Amino acid sequence: MAEHTDNGGKIAILGCGKLGIAILQGLAKSYSKNSHNLGHVVVTAKTSAGAKRIQKSINGFATTQDSLRVEIHTGDENSLAVQDAVVVILGCKPNALSEILTPKVVRAIEQNEKRTILVNLAGGVTLVDLARMYRSVRGGQEHRAFIVRAIPNIAASVRQSATVLSSWTEDGREAVQRVFDLIGHTEWVAEEQMFAASALGASSLAFHAIILRAVAGSLSEMSSADAIRLCARAMLGTAALVLAGESPDAIIDKVATRGGSTEAGLHILKTHGVEDSFLAAIRATTQATGTMGKTVSRLSDQPGGADVRCAE
Ligand SMILES: NC(=O)c1ccc[n+]([C@@H]2O[C@H](COP(=O)([O-])OP(=O)(O)OC[C@H]3O[C@@H](n4cnc5c(N)ncnc54)[C@H](OP(=O)(O)O)[C@@H]3O)[C@@H](O)[C@H]2O)c1
Repeated sequence: MAEHTDNGGKIAILGCGKLGIAILQGLAKSYSKNSHNLGHVVVTAKTSAGAKRIQKSINGFATTQDSLRVEIHTGDENSLAVQDAVVVILGCKPNALSEILTPKVVRAIEQNEKRTILVNLAGGVTLVDLARMYRSVRGGQEHRAFIVRAIPNIAASVRQSATVLSSWTEDGREAVQRVFDLIGHTEWVAEEQMFAASALGASSLAFHAIILRAVAGSLSEMSSADAIRLCARAMLGTAALVLAGESPDAIIDKVATRGGSTEAGLHILKTHGVEDSFLAAIRATTQATGTMGKTVSRLSDQPGGADVRCAE
């Protein structure tokens, strides 16, 4: 890899899998030599296969002198990765958090000159869960890290993530937002909205992809690639109208004229209960996200992890 020059802060992504890689790709694409937002990203995966996957994902755009400086390590170097990091992103699954937040990693975070911002992406893990866990690893002692919960989505790779964030205080939000603004749109929400926001902002990409696949795959007159591209543009158009203030009902009204061709299609969707299915899917996803973090809640309920400053 070519020599790089740091021109901004350092962030670490511990547990850089599918979502972490999407974030890394977005950050690499956003890199500008003249911006002082971010200059150096250190990422880790558990295995060397995981580290190779990361390397492959950034080949081509993070290897020149004018690109973001990226360092890739395996899990045994998590404590090295967090040294001097302004923001540490925990990108693993909930059950790997205890493997990542070891006493060595926590000690390294506590030794950082500036107060480190710890951003948790692990699904279903609440601010209280993470704060308890962190404190528990510290042997019940006060800690300096500022804790944030974030749910980006995989469109981060093309800088179009709809990231929702939550934290107990305003303190530290600006620095976190600067990072996530580089990979898309960010919104701060109350923590009780995070499960629903996860279903709507992250999981729903898979639901939108199902619509796209079904809609584009329904006709034989066009090649699959052409059909998917056209439908994706139509989806973008729908999204742009909604973001410009048009309601979904207004769009349906404008497109479907009485007795017209669109109405024939809408009738089929209604008869097959498609809207009800999506409603049920979002509810099931929201509930499932809520149970994902249960292991961590149980862990953090252990002695030493119970006393948390919730105002943090
Ligand atoms: N994917 C999404 O669209 C999405 C969206 C929003 C939120 N989330 C949440 O984000 C979290 C991660 O999801 P994902 O899809 O990115 O999962 P993933 O692809 O399985 O990534 C998890 C990563 O953690 C690494 N890891 C595990 N133990 C580690 C250790 N001890 N040290 C360093 N790295 C370690 C794994 O390394 P190896 O590769 O070597 O095994 C892997 O790269 C989940 O909790 C999920 O709910 C995901």
